[in-house]
Amino acid sequence: FDILVLNGPNLGYIGKRQPEIYGSQGMDQVPALVRELMGEKAGDVRLSFFQTNSEGGLIDRLEQAWNHGVHGIVFNAGAYTHTSLALADCLAWITIPCVEVHLSNIWARTDEPLRQRSYIGSRCVGVVAGFGLLSYALAVQSLWRLLSDKQT
Ligand code: DQA
Repeated sequence: FDILVLNGPNLGYIGKRQPEIYGSQGMDQVPALVRELMGEKAGDVRLSFFQTNSEGGLIDRLEQAWNHGVHGIVFNAGAYTHTSLALADCLAWITIPCVEVHLSNIWARTDEPLRQRSYIGSRCVGVVAGFGLLSYALAVQSLWRLLSDKQT
């Protein structure tokens, strides 16, 4: 399965950005976490990674994924999660199974209630939040399971 790991604004320096909230590991650790979690099944997934700080750039990349027949999307939309009807509209029509991910548990950040709302969540098959980089690996594993079940 081809799975796109898509990161939105301020996620280009994960590992360096506020490590007390987002952890000190970089995105380059995700493939190793996927292997650790999935063992030999990790061979069934081809991951591609893309990050952009721009909302339009995320939509362009999602459209490209649709054009290229990508099977699943792991999506951390960063702060656009909480604001972007445009991203929600895009996910609504491309209908590629998408898992929303967050490094932090956005619902536990009660000092910032705006973060507890997601525009894209209702367009996703599920959400993984709060496990740092492991959130991404758990999302890949969940997509693999979903896509495998669909095939049979
Ligand atoms: C985030 C949570 C968002 O609220 C924030 O704007 C981010 C990162 C996370 O992964 O925890 O940029 O999506």
